Amino acid sequence: MNVWVIGTGGLGRVLAGYLHDPPATNVLLVPVRGTSVDGLASGLTVFTPERTVTVRPPIVPLSAVDSTVGRPDVVLLCVKGDDTERAVAAVAAHVHGTLVVTPQNGLQAYRVADWLPGTSVAAAVMAFDGTALDGGRAVQRRTRRRITLGMVSGTAPAGLRPAATLLSRCAPVTLSEQIDATLWGKLVTNAAGNAVSAITRLTMGEVTAHPDLLAWCVDLMSEGAEVAARHGVRLAAADLLGIAPEVVRGGSTGPHGRRLMADYAAAHEPVAALRSSMCRDLDQGRPTEVAWINGEIVRHGDAVGAATILHQQATAKVRHIEQKGSSC
Ligand SMILES: NC(=O)c1ccc[n+]([C@@H]2O[C@H](COP(=O)([O-])OP(=O)(O)OC[C@H]3O[C@@H](n4cnc5c(N)ncnc54)[C@H](OP(=O)(O)O)[C@@H]3O)[C@@H](O)[C@H]2O)c1
Repeated sequence: MNVWVIGTGGLGRVLAGYLHDPPATNVLLVPVRGTSVDGLASGLTVFTPERTVTVRPPIVPLSAVDSTVGRPDVVLLCVKGDDTERAVAAVAAHVHGTLVVTPQNGLQAYRVADWLPGTSVAAAVMAFDGTALDGGRAVQRRTRRRITLGMVSGTAPAGLRPAATLLSRCAPVTLSEQIDATLWGKLVTNAAGNAVSAITRLTMGEVTAHPDLLAWCVDLMSEGAEVAARHGVRLAAADLLGIAPEVVRGGSTGPHGRRLMADYAAAHEPVAALRSSMCRDLDQGRPTEVAWINGEIVRHGDAVGAATILHQQATAKVRHIEQKGSSC
């Protein structure tokens, strides 16, 4: 099976490390800007809780992808939101009969499906982590990993099962018929703590220990869940950290506000020591995905006339920090 991993940041590197196993699976690494080509030239080393692997997949920068590279069976789109359109444009001519899988956060999968009519597009909702390190290395730390895989458009060329088998080398995979709810549920939960940790530069444990910040998180979640509902997405507790949708939608001041805050804090105990990925992007002076997370909720709220003032404010605050390089 030929697998193209587009984007060689944290997620792309870790997935490539788990997957590259020639001759059964040939991974092609495709850096978006080519920034990491030099570091990866002598191999990619991935540290996981179970083992350390060094693999040497071929590397072809996105700008050099052409028909001589062959045709992928599966494309894993591991790029940040801002790079999605150019990545899709560069591979569009090579994905006939290919399954394009996007493990990106947010709702990129729908955009990718629109840009690739006639191509099968699946979303992989990742309970997974990957961090790129210098010198062609990456680390994956979570021991309890999970991938939920579902079709967004088209019909997978050979069904989704081969892709599920492939990805099960990285984490247990569940095939889902309700990927819309899983994607939206991750967006709604991610848009809350991710932004608050980024704006405050605090760990999730510090955020949830502070009553006002905890209330801010659950109210962001509530606003997002309302937007999802107005778009006809039927979120279940399993999509919302195990919290019932009606409890989430009531927010911190609703009839179940205390329980909501307690459950939200409890759900974040395993990641209490961590700051969010958006926070880490700000620390490293890199653009965040706020436009594709909180901004996505604002755009979808606008489309159905739902209030999104908290997500508008969060987006503006993160943007401000991105531009000024400091907290508000
Ligand atoms: N990482 C996770 O834990 C995780 C989990 C779930 C979902 N996601 C989603 O996956 C997508 C990709 O996220 P990501 O975490 O992989 O992004 P990332 O690590 O920030 O990488 C983004 C881009 O930055 C460049 N880059 C990053 N680290 C580098 C390094 N050490 N040296 C050189 N270049 C470096 C790479 O560019 P080049 O391609 O040009 O080399 C890469 O494409 C996002 O949509 C994210 O939401 C990530």
